[in-house]
Amino acid sequence: MPALSKNFALQVPTLYDELEFNHDDELIDELRDLGYDLGDHSLSESDFRDLDFDEYDSGGADIILDVPYVPSDEKIVSAMLDLAQVTSQDILYDLGCGDGRIVVAAALERNTHGVGIDVDPMRITEAIEYAGHTGVEHLVHFIEDDLLEAEFGNATVVTLYLLDLVNLQLRPRLLDELRPGTRIVSHAFDMGDWKPDQRQNCGSINLYKWIVPAKVAGIWEWQATTGEAYRVELKQKYQQVTGKAWIDGAAAQLKSVLLSGDLIELQIKKDASSRPVSFVMRCASKQWLAVDGNLQASAAIKIVNS
Ligand SMILES: C[S@@+](CC[C@H](N)C(=O)[O-])C[C@H]1O[C@@H](n2cnc3c(N)ncnc32)[C@H](O)[C@@H]1O
Repeated sequence: MPALSKNFALQVPTLYDELEFNHDDELIDELRDLGYDLGDHSLSESDFRDLDFDEYDSGGADIILDVPYVPSDEKIVSAMLDLAQVTSQDILYDLGCGDGRIVVAAALERNTHGVGIDVDPMRITEAIEYAGHTGVEHLVHFIEDDLLEAEFGNATVVTLYLLDLVNLQLRPRLLDELRPGTRIVSHAFDMGDWKPDQRQNCGSINLYKWIVPAKVAGIWEWQATTGEAYRVELKQKYQQVTGKAWIDGAAAQLKSVLLSGDLIELQIKKDASSRPVSFVMRCASKQWLAVDGNLQASAAIKIVNS
């Protein structure tokens, strides 16, 4: 029985032509009958990177792919949904959705609304058929579009199986257009110097998760219930935040800052011998509201932009 070759991605469209595409399980059974070993058909990062897809022809359609078509296997799809902690409250976008398997799996297994975007009309046709056959068409929507141009700002979860260069091209839009707290999960490829919040190995495959951070750089002030006036001046690189603090105008110590999505926790000490006071706030662009009002008499207000 042959193992799937490196060119599996390019064979899949041909195989789809030979197969009656009904249901993922049937497709997998038929691929098995044709002698393909589907035990783990995920490609290693370097094999995926090496795929030659310049000559790709989508049934005569005049399209240019930025990433070849390689479907994520079942195990990886499931691990990606788990890592993103997808629920029925989410709106999941798969950018470069292929045959729609991630969007359909989330709808089937978790009742999640989803949108799949792919530039290849053949993939979109397959995805719509797949959603129809699995009975989730009321939850999902597939759009033929270039993922670098498409709208995805209302996503709460974004899944990617692209190349690292495409992830890098997307990065500024992911940071600017997605709401803080949105989870991004990528199969195999990272995002340059935006370090993931979580990384998971799934066999030999790496999965990465980022949580879109709120923009918090600048000078912020608030009043504590003790009557003291707190001020912080923060610098930010993605979710990493550093800075300085003052209490009633005197320099204090900013012991730590943790930022996860739109939640920030600041630990501030008056001096080396005092105990740190911790403030947890929910960030919006101009003010942060206290999550625990016991220590805070006012919201934090932005005084100066970074
Ligand atoms: C590696 S496959 C991933 C498919 C699916 N997300 C999965 O994990 O099974 C990448 C997909 O991106 C699509 N693609 C490539 N360039 C694109 C572009 N510029 N805009 C939208 N889709 C694109 C390809 O057609 C292909 O279906």
